[in-house]
Amino acid sequence: MHSMEELSKIPQHVSIIMDGNGRWAKSRGLERLEGHKEGVESVRACLEFAVEMRIKYLSLFAFSTENWGRPKEEVQGLWALMVKAIERETKNLVKNRVRVLVLGNLEQLSPDLRMAIEGLREVTASGQGTTLVVMLNYSGKWDIVQAANRFAEKNPGKKMVPEDFDSFLVTAGVPDPDLLIRTSGEERISNYMLWQTAYTEFYFTDTLWPDFRKKEFRLALEAYAKRDRRYGKVKSNNE
Ligand code: FPP
Repeated sequence: MHSMEELSKIPQHVSIIMDGNGRWAKSRGLERLEGHKEGVESVRACLEFAVEMRIKYLSLFAFSTENWGRPKEEVQGLWALMVKAIERETKNLVKNRVRVLVLGNLEQLSPDLRMAIEGLREVTASGQGTTLVVMLNYSGKWDIVQAANRFAEKNPGKKMVPEDFDSFLVTAGVPDPDLLIRTSGEERISNYMLWQTAYTEFYFTDTLWPDFRKKEFRLALEAYAKRDRRYGKVKSNNE
């Protein structure tokens, strides 16, 4: 066991760019989709841990608008995996008081998947525990542009301040991530939450997503607890 002191600072919102499923599969001579399947197990483990640690928001980059460029079978396989995961996990999510939000350009998704997502949203809406935010068919630039367009439509001729803008992003109501984890050794933002990560702490690990489970998640939280967040101000000693 680790001391409580190491984790005295628990982030309110942890976001994860889940990367490395393909490489995990390749290194075992498996199809890429097998890596994604194992990745779903990591999603479950990390959500369980977030619930245990009482992390209020766990967001996951599950599919980017750029991922459409992958082979058709892989894209179809990913959607099928998600529908299956929803069918299999809904009861368990409700039992654990998890609220699920799925955010992104959902209009481009199949009617089946959209129905499954809407059903999941409804039955988990009253969950008072951890909120799982699945970023699906999402990209940061897309989000910023749709927010700007909607703002302009509602407020013709008006200028905006950053606070106005927040409420037009798809993440409206979700606090900005305190900690962003990216797995598999890649160290970039890849058109993820560009606006929302203005003051986010970043944590990179070489661990591939299918191998990222509770132990690795705890290491990331330990690293976060040691960070000194100043938000552009000077260090405060009584934090
Ligand atoms: C990145 O690995 C992974 C993805 C683009 C898909 C992640 C999706 C899941 C794990 C399923 C999500 C499910 C739920 C229930 C939220 P990669 O394919 O880019 O790996 P590589 O860089 O090694 O090729």
